[in-house]
Amino acid sequence: MSTHPVNLSDHESLARAALDAATWAYVQGGAADGLTLQANQAAWQQLPLYPRVLRPLAGGHTRLTLLGRELAHPLIVAPMAHQRALHPQGEAATALAAAAQGAGFVLSTQSNVPMENIAQLVQQDAGRGPLWFQLYWQPSRDTTLSLIHRAEAAGFDALVLSVDAPVAGVRDAERRHGFKLPAGVSAVHLPPTTAPAEWAPGQSRLFDQLLLSAPDWDDIAWLREQTRLPLLLKGITHPEDARQAMALGANGVVLSNHGGRTLDTVPATAQLLPAVARAVAGRVPLIVDGGIRRGTDVLKALALGASAVMVGRPVLHGLAHNGALGVAQVLRQLRDELEVAMALCGCRTLGDASPALLTNA
Ligand SMILES: Cc1cc2nc3c(=O)[nH]c(=O)nc-3n(C[C@H](O)[C@H](O)[C@H](O)COP(=O)(O)O)c2cc1C
Repeated sequence: MSTHPVNLSDHESLARAALDAATWAYVQGGAADGLTLQANQAAWQQLPLYPRVLRPLAGGHTRLTLLGRELAHPLIVAPMAHQRALHPQGEAATALAAAAQGAGFVLSTQSNVPMENIAQLVQQDAGRGPLWFQLYWQPSRDTTLSLIHRAEAAGFDALVLSVDAPVAGVRDAERRHGFKLPAGVSAVHLPPTTAPAEWAPGQSRLFDQLLLSAPDWDDIAWLREQTRLPLLLKGITHPEDARQAMALGANGVVLSNHGGRTLDTVPATAQLLPAVARAVAGRVPLIVDGGIRRGTDVLKALALGASAVMVGRPVLHGLAHNGALGVAQVLRQLRDELEVAMALCGCRTLGDASPALLTNA
């Protein structure tokens, strides 16, 4: 294994060597049999590209405008919980590296570093990408609101409500390895977790307890009224849900199956993208994640109608083996690969990435 990673797969190998088996299971695992997890990556790989030659490329670039902000490139770091389990600086290292690379950064509700510290670090960098706060709906509207008010006061640019995980998926690998957060690492925005209350035989812990406070579409309508910040919904996979999100005023849609960590056997996001892109029809930004590992994957996502992509596990791989430097390398390498893919396909700008790249018919 190379100690000089040249691609995202090299970072994955280095991270695996750096982490214990339980933490690796946390980072890498998928739900149940891992079918969606595998499908995500395979689906991008299996889409063939049909390059065009001799098109003018001078003056090309990867810039785009997203929610009124100009970005250097379409890479956004996905929200991921508990990054101090991987590196002492956790989310602070990831956010700094993302800002230095001009990438977007989404801070998880389940961060181990307070959102105010992250905002302060990132806002000093004039070349930074967007800084978004990922919201998990809390057991009461008041607690949800207090997180929103904190994110607004800290200067986050948008809220990303994750709607695909009212409960955690069936995470066999994590349970098998008994993953636990290291001592001194906790979800700093949330009250300490208490042992689940007793429930009577014949009752369901899920339906009779946890899900009593799960959000529904009425909560989205309420939420949209509570903040001036743009609101994106993450974890949309069905075109009808994308339409409903927009009808309720969502400012963006994140097509995601949570990296295969929630419901297993959901199709790969590359397969879901065309129908969701038709539903969104360019009215709001459409961001996709899941299995993006190569610059060609990014180009294919844009060709299928995405405005930008989120990158998950590869960022954690960089963090685990080399802190902020590792994250920066991952983002830079993916961006460099995207530029090469664009040039070799005859795309001068991201706007040139169209479905025509994926067919020669
Ligand atoms: C370790 C880990 C923790 C995650 N935590 C969150 C989270 O707190 N909130 C959320 O919306 N998504 C979470 N996700 C999902 C990611 O945001 C993203 O959808 C997914 O990782 C993308 O797939 P990829 O890892 O194949 O790039 C997590 C993913 C991983 C790998």
